Amino acid sequence: MMIERTFSIVKPDAVAKHGVGKVVARIEEGGLKLVAGRFTQLSRAEAEGFYAVHCERPFFNDLCTFMTSGPVFVSVLEGENAVARYREVLGATNPAQAAAGTVRALFGTDIEKNAAHGSDAVETARFEIGFFFQGSELL
Ligand code: CMP
Repeated sequence: MMIERTFSIVKPDAVAKHGVGKVVARIEEGGLKLVAGRFTQLSRAEAEGFYAVHCERPFFNDLCTFMTSGPVFVSVLEGENAVARYREVLGATNPAQAAAGTVRALFGTDIEKNAAHGSDAVETARFEIGFFFQGSELL
């Protein structure tokens, strides 16, 4: 078992539904702990930079518009196999395919408004954490 860190965004749809506390509860119940977290409102440049890997995809523009539409809660999670563990807590990217009880099944609407983001690999997590947090902010 590896102690890892991963990165989470509670997206504007879930924040608007007052879902931040419920997502954080599921993170903690899932055996992960928050080592950093704050609310922020993404600028267009931040959304485009964060999702740059998707810039050629047809949904990129709409995704960036959605991600800048309201406040988000960004956080860093730590625990055993944190990347895979958090993806289990989230459920499938498309809420329609997410297992019952997962964050996306509970709070997601569709594949774009899917309540929360989690890093897909340790390397990605390192980039995403560094995009929002200084090392000194990880407690
Ligand atoms: P997220 O984990 O934030 O990573 C990239 C996001 O792109 C993903 O969640 C979805 O919200 C979104 N996404 C992925 N595939 C599609 C798609 N086919 N149509 C619209 N949005 C998508």
